[in-house]
Parts: sequence; C-alpha cells; structure tokens
Amino acid sequence: MSAKKSEKAKEAKNEKEDGLIRFTINGQPVQAREGWTILETARQYGIQIPTLCFHPVVQPIGSCRLCMVETQQNNSSRVVASCITPVQEGVEVLTHSDEVQNVRRWILEMLLAACPASKGIRDLAKEYGVTSSRFTVDYPEDACPRCGLCVRVCDEVVGIRAISLGNRGIFKEVTSPYHQRSIDCVSCGTCLYVCPTGAMEQLFDQVRG
Ligand code: FES
Repeated sequence: MSAKKSEKAKEAKNEKEDGLIRFTINGQPVQAREGWTILETARQYGIQIPTLCFHPVVQPIGSCRLCMVETQQNNSSRVVASCITPVQEGVEVLTHSDEVQNVRRWILEMLLAACPASKGIRDLAKEYGVTSSRFTVDYPEDACPRCGLCVRVCDEVVGIRAISLGNRGIFKEVTSPYHQRSIDCVSCGTCLYVCPTGAMEQLFDQVRG
C-alpha cells in the first residue's frame, strides 16, 4: 500500500474510532456525538434554527414543527423536525433552503391564526415576510401556541403535573384539573419562565393554587 493510501486508511480508522458523526450543515463540516439531534449540533456551532416547543431541560416532542430543516442523502431529500431528528453520518443539512422557508412560512401562518396576540410570533412571522394568515382567527386575544412546554416542564422538571393540555383541535388549551385552581401547584413560576410567547402570564393566575 502506498504511503498516501495508508495515511488515508489511518485517518478513516481514527475517524471511526473517535465515535464522532461527521456531516454538514449549510455546507459547513460539523461533528456530533451519537444520539445528538440536528438542532443540538446546530446550536453547538452557533447555527440558528427557530424553535417554539423545544427547551433543553425537557424531552423534545417535535410538536410545533418550526425547527424544520432539509436533509439530503443518497439522492433523496426530506424535511424533518431538527429537534427530534438524530444526526447521521454524511447527511447534508440545510437550515434555510427554499423548501424549508416555505414550510416555516406556512407554519407561521398557522401560528399567527392560533395565537395572534403573541408579539414574539408576530415578530418571527415578520422576519419571514408573513404578516397575515389565510387561516381563521378564532380567538384574537390568544397568545398560547399550545406547544405544551409549560406542561412538560411542570411534569418533567418540577415533578408536579399541576397543569395539562386539555381538549382537542381548536379547543385545545392549557388547563388545570376540572378547570379549578390546581391544588398541586406550588407557584414556582417555572412554566412562566419557559413559555415562549408570554401566554402563561395570563394563565398563571387562573391555574395556580
Ligand atoms: S422546536 Fe422542534 S418541533 Fe417545535
């Protein structure tokens, strides 16, 4: 084996043995540990991907779909939620391709209709050129995106489960048992802290014990 070939084989062996996964984000080579998500890796490299239902202290559930990115591998391309998609060797990730921007604009239109009172959502939508929504606005005062972050943090971090997501579809809401003030709530305010739109400020007094 020539010296060059053996050097390359050595490099490949070292790469395999260090346990790192190598791929690219927007053409930039990046490395991640097994089990990391695309979002986690992007954040390590300071690459911005918008999120709503993600917070590092709770398990990601991929409900808002705002963090969608495009992945390309073996001549196929997919749009996936980066907060729940594990990294893969050799995949090419695009965080702002035309397809991703279109999906994100569509999601922002839905969010504008679901929680029109949220300034954060309106500002983010504006960044993507979305200033109105083709979906019906049922509750103009609503700022809650139903991302469930407040519910998950109460359960997974505080360990209380004082609140939950009740009802379905357009009636889905953050609520306390039987719509009464929760006797389990300890008024710690963790839900207020993680709420990405400030909606919990309106709800907190209704649900706390
Ligand atoms: S942040 Fe990934 S789906 Fe909400």
